[in-house]
Amino acid sequence: MKKLMAANWKMYKTWGEAEATAGELVGLVADALPADREVLVFPPFTALKAVGDVFGPAAGFSVGGQDFYTEEEGAFTGEISPNMLKDAGASFGLTGHSERRHVLGEDDALVGRKTAYGLSQGLKVVLCIGELIEERRAGRVQEVLERQLRAGLADVPADMDPERLSVAYEPVWAIGTGEVAGPAEIVEAHAFTRKILVSIFGEKANEMRILYGGSVKPGNCAEIIALDNVDGVLVGGASLQGESFSRIVLA
Ligand code: G3P
Repeated sequence: MKKLMAANWKMYKTWGEAEATAGELVGLVADALPADREVLVFPPFTALKAVGDVFGPAAGFSVGGQDFYTEEEGAFTGEISPNMLKDAGASFGLTGHSERRHVLGEDDALVGRKTAYGLSQGLKVVLCIGELIEERRAGRVQEVLERQLRAGLADVPADMDPERLSVAYEPVWAIGTGEVAGPAEIVEAHAFTRKILVSIFGEKANEMRILYGGSVKPGNCAEIIALDNVDGVLVGGASLQGESFSRIVLA
C-alpha cells in the first residue's frame, strides 16, 4: 500500500499562490518521490484547476476538494458537487474535517451522507475523525472515534474498493496547535480505527489507508510515518510552503 502524503491548504492561497507552491513542490519532489508514496493536495476550490494543471504530467500527484455537497446540481447556493470537483481535475474529496464539524457545524449524519455520495460519484474519499481535548480527558476517545466511523461510513457499500477510502485520524487538540499526539496515542487510535474498519468491511479494510493529521512537521514526520497502521499524513500549516511540505513528503 502506498503512503498517502496529503496537504490540506484550508482557506489559504490565491490561484497564483497555489500555482506557484504546486510548481515548487513538483520541482522539489517529482524526481525523488519513492514508488511507495503518493502526493495529494487539497487546495481551495478556486485553485483546484491551477494545481491540477501543474501536477498533470507528474506521476504520483493528485488534487482533491476540501468539501462537497450530496447532490449532482441544483439550488444549493454556495455548494459544489463531486462532478464539479472532478471537472476541475480532482480525484479525491475530504469529508468530516474537524473544522467542518466544529466550526461549520456539520454533524455525523451529514458527514456520512457526503462520504457515501462522494464515493458513489467516483471520488476517492478521505474521511476525517478525531476527538476534542475534553473527550480525551474524559476517557472517551474510542467512543468518539467509533461513533464518527460508524456514522461516517453507514451508507458506504460493503463491496467498496478499499483503495478508494481512507480515514484520517486528526485529534482536534493537535490541529494547528503545534502539539502533536505522542507515538503511543497515535498507535492506539490507529489500531482502534483499523479494528472498527475491519468490523465494518472485513479483512479488506487492511488495505484502507489510515492517515495521521495534527501538527505534522518536517521534523516529526519520519517518526510518525513509521508507526504501525500509519499509512500517510494529512498536513495543514506545514504544507503551505513547498519546501517544508517537500521535506514531509520525502521524510
Ligand atoms: O487537515 C490537516 C489539519 O487539520 C492539520 O493541521 O496545521 O495541525 O497540520 P496542522
